[in-house]
Order: sequence, then structure tokens, then C-alpha cells
Amino acid sequence: MTNCIVTGGAGYVGSHCCKELAKAGYTPVTVDNLFRGHRELVKWGPLCECDVLDTERLAAIFEEYKPEAVFHFAGLTYVGESVEHPEDYYRVNTAGTLSLLSAMMRGGCDKIIFSSTAATYGNPLYTPIDEKHPQSPINPYGASKLFIERMMEDFSAAHGIKFAALRYFNASGADPECETGELHDPETHLIPLIIFAALGRRADIKIFGRNYDTPDGTAVRDYVHVTDLASAHLKALEKLKSDGKNLKLNLGTGSGYSVLEVIKSVERVSGKKVPAHDAPRRAGDPPVLVADSTAAQQTLGWQLKHSSIDEIVETAIRWHEKN
Ligand code: UFG
Repeated sequence: MTNCIVTGGAGYVGSHCCKELAKAGYTPVTVDNLFRGHRELVKWGPLCECDVLDTERLAAIFEEYKPEAVFHFAGLTYVGESVEHPEDYYRVNTAGTLSLLSAMMRGGCDKIIFSSTAATYGNPLYTPIDEKHPQSPINPYGASKLFIERMMEDFSAAHGIKFAALRYFNASGADPECETGELHDPETHLIPLIIFAALGRRADIKIFGRNYDTPDGTAVRDYVHVTDLASAHLKALEKLKSDGKNLKLNLGTGSGYSVLEVIKSVERVSGKKVPAHDAPRRAGDPPVLVADSTAAQQTLGWQLKHSSIDEIVETAIRWHEKN
């Protein structure tokens, strides 16, 4: 069996990627400090409890498992928190990746598939956003991830590391077989919060901004199913293996849904009314974030299989009902 290291494999996107890796015949070796990850989501391979900042321990894990590649999801992901505590974001995300790259070099592992983000683009100058769009992040979270992309380029030029930077838009939904899903604490994302309101676990949902320059006045996002994201990671590995060229690709659907449209989808799929009320805009939220993912589709042969808004919502509802 071929091993792959999955940092953050006990987290949301990472655990879905572990499942896809196992289905494709790889052994996913999760490296996670369980700060925000969940032991119970590590189901498809061993768990090494280890912080990515611990280069010595990482080097020992590379020595033990001799992985073909690293899938790097470990990191902090809250925009608001990154504004309040940038030091944590640069330490865990940026310095953590430097530690990981150093351990990879010591272990002779030369391929990394990295969980980047649309937040590296900052405020969109045009839509949909393609990979040529300038990267000018407006918060420390996006900046911490952009620095990682830059580091990987420099390591590639100097040391021959091959990388894929996959820039996600709005990761959402849950494993269609309900074996893993989103377990964020605190939960700040729109779809789970709407579902909690539909299931009666919270009183209502706030709509952050009704006066955006969008068709219904609420903000528009590109929601992409987490299982489709996971499949893109496997395809990126195959591509790095076959032609060795570094990849920087957007992962989204090309379709945007407004906050009101997402609420309607949850009401349609659950058959429950979602109490909602208007609230001020959330600081730092752009009106529209939609991906042009033509490059990922053409380069990787990536196809979306689960990313209709109703399937995203339906899989997420099943997961949250179970948990
Ligand atoms: N929203 C509400 N009410 C809520 C929560 C969210 O109206 O209670 C709105 C937001 O204002 C936004 C949309 O719903 O317009 C989606 O919000 P999310 O918090 O679900 O997602 P974001 O688009 O803010 O964030 C996502 C990722 C981040 C990433 C960002 C930009 O979660 O990690 O996209 O790429 F940085």
C-alpha cells in the first residue's frame, strides 16, 4: 500500500480527502494535533497526534511511513479570528507549513497538495474569479495562505518540490454516506447555521446585509461539495505524478447562490421553515465570490458530482441530524 500524509486529516475537508484516498487504494496517515480536529473522524488510516510545528516529530513520521505525497489541510480557518490574532495564523499556517516543508525535504518526499483559499484573492476586481486574478488578501487568514503558496514556489525552484495549490471557494455539504462531515466549534458558516435553525437547535439565522449590489440584495457565494473538493485533491496528485508541473487551481462550481437562495434550499429540502432576520453586513465580506474553475476541469479532468445546492444541503442535513 502507498502511504500519503494528510495533515489536518481529523478535520472537515481533510477527513473527506482521507476517505477518497482510501477508496483509491492509498493509506491516509493523518497528522493532527486535535486542537480543532476530531479523533472520531479519523476512520481510514492511522492517526499520528502531532503538531505541524514539531519538525523533529514530523521527520520521524516521514521516516516511518515513507509517504508518496503530503495533503496539507492543517491550519486555522476563521477570518474574524485571524484579524484579532494574526500571530496565531502566521504561526500555525505559515510557520507550520515551513516546518512541514522542511520535514518533507528531510524525508525525501517531493509532492504536496495544499488547501489554499479564495481568501488569497481579496476583494474581487471581476467575477467569476480565475487564477489570473490578482492575489491581494484583505485579512491575515488569506495572507497566511498566500505566503504558503509563495513558499512552495521557492521550495520548488530550489529543491524540486512539486506542489498543487487548490484555492477553495465555499466548502460545504457532507459525505453522502454520512461517515464524516462538518463539526466546527464555533460554527460560523452559513449552511450549518441555517440547518441548525431548521432543526430547532438555534432560534433563527441572521442575514448579514440586505443591500448588496446583487439580484436579491444578499451576498452571493460559490458553494462546492466537500466530496468534490476531495476528488480534486486526488486528481491533483495523479497530475503531479504524471507531468510534474506545479498547479494553482480554483475549486468552485461557477454558480453563485445568495444567502436567501440558500435559506430557500434548506426550507425546500428539510420541509421546515427557517426563521431569519436582517442584520448589518459582516465586516470584510465581499458581495460576490464566484470561481471560474475551467482550469481545474480542463487540467485535472475534474467533474462536479455532488455540488448542486440541494445535494449540498441534503447531505449536510443528514450529517447534522445524525450528530
Ligand atoms: N452569512 C450570513 N449569516 C450567517 C453566516 C453567514 O448571512 O449567520 C453570510 C455571510 O455574510 C456570507 C455568506 O453567508 O455572505 C457565506 O458565509 P460563510 O461564513 O459561510 O462563508 P464565507 O464566504 O465568509 O467564508 C468562506 C470560507 C473562508 C474563506 C472565505 C473566502 O469559510 O474560510 O470563504 O474564501 F476565507
